[in-house]
Amino acid sequence: MKTNISTLPVLFNKDCSQAAKLFRGFFKIGKARFFPKRHSGCDHFKNLALVYFKLTPLCNLRCVMCGQYGEKGVMHGRIAEEAKKALSLDGWKKIVDEIAPLKPVTYLWGGEPFLYPDLFPLAKYMLDKGLYVSVNTNGTLMEKHAEQIVRDRWSTIFVSLDAFRDTNDAQRGAGSYDKVIAGFKAINEEKKRQKSKLPALGVVSVVTNRNYMDLANLASALDDYNIDIHMINMGTYTNDNVVAAQKRFMREKLDTDIDCLEGYNTGYNTGIDGHTFHKILNEIHGGRHGHTTIAVPALNPEKVNIYYGELETPVRNNCIVPWCQANVNYNGDVHFCADYPDYILGNVGESSFREIYNGERANRFRKTINSCEGGMFPGCLRCYQNMLFGSKIKGF
Ligand SMILES: C[S@@+](CC[C@H](N)C(=O)[O-])C[C@H]1O[C@@H](n2cnc3c(N)ncnc32)[C@H](O)[C@@H]1O
Ligand code: SF4
Repeated sequence: MKTNISTLPVLFNKDCSQAAKLFRGFFKIGKARFFPKRHSGCDHFKNLALVYFKLTPLCNLRCVMCGQYGEKGVMHGRIAEEAKKALSLDGWKKIVDEIAPLKPVTYLWGGEPFLYPDLFPLAKYMLDKGLYVSVNTNGTLMEKHAEQIVRDRWSTIFVSLDAFRDTNDAQRGAGSYDKVIAGFKAINEEKKRQKSKLPALGVVSVVTNRNYMDLANLASALDDYNIDIHMINMGTYTNDNVVAAQKRFMREKLDTDIDCLEGYNTGYNTGIDGHTFHKILNEIHGGRHGHTTIAVPALNPEKVNIYYGELETPVRNNCIVPWCQANVNYNGDVHFCADYPDYILGNVGESSFREIYNGERANRFRKTINSCEGGMFPGCLRCYQNMLFGSKIKGF
């Protein structure tokens, strides 16, 4: 199975300048891997390679496995209150102005980014500043905006689709499958009409015990929709022991009480037969599809059963996120960990991004992670960012 770097040739085919921007991001991330990870006394900000903008706490779906809004989602009961704290367009532009000279790859997500009212002016502003702008959406609101998405030349749009209609809708919400398919058709028609190759069209499928058996058929069906990249997200899962260990660790070492990891303690990994899924992944990989398929993480097929069945066994380590990435939350808080915004580095309303990224709290986090065996915290065992960019543990 290919790794995330294989998006580059796909993009080169579409638009060289976009591919060059992505390449620069990967290159900087690669550098973070190979240089010693200092925790203070240097300008970490200049190494920023990837910035996530979590634009809104709102979402129109309640996907069962989602750590934010799913069955155990951390956002339940907080959404209305959190929505009042959302940054304005000018607030986001200020961040863009500061980071744009570094040309990081940017990734707009949420919640559902199409529910952020100024998504289009913000994405346009970022593109005009020369940034690579990727948007991750549930796709339910894509059809009606297809004309503008293509006109504005977003770099990539990653649409979540987990299975065919019945399973997808049971996992992600009634009607979502049909809306996503309508969105693909609308984007393809607009690309044709506007004679544009952008945005590159990606699909993200999150693996659960409900959909894994369908994924080979789904991969084949995607050939009908001119998809460029199919990302098979192996899923973020955890268990009671890992959550308890992380809670203790974060309290003791970083004086932080955490509540985000528990959202991924869903059990949707239970019963995934690693041997069967290994065969399915081989089938997908061996298929002659019109798109590139990437699994995150790309595992040794023999070890797929461990990924789902032994959640306390590491498959990646040496997290490099604090040395090259950041997530800005809808309220302006800056974090390293996009899915676990518990430890706040600072807020862009109070300090510049650079001050926050080079600040005392950021360096304390770096120092703590450096001191951990394997260069990661106990709760990071299936963290998506670590699955994307961590070091492969031998055999996995
Ligand atoms: C939190 S969503 C936000 C963007 C948008 N609402 C969407 O669903 O695409 C970001 C991505 O995380 C995926 N996701 C949801 N639950 C997950 C889990 N437990 N493990 C890994 N990825 C998950 C979603 O399917 C989506 O591709
Ligand atoms: S659409 Fe995205 S953010 Fe909303 S519940 Fe589903 S995965 Fe979570």
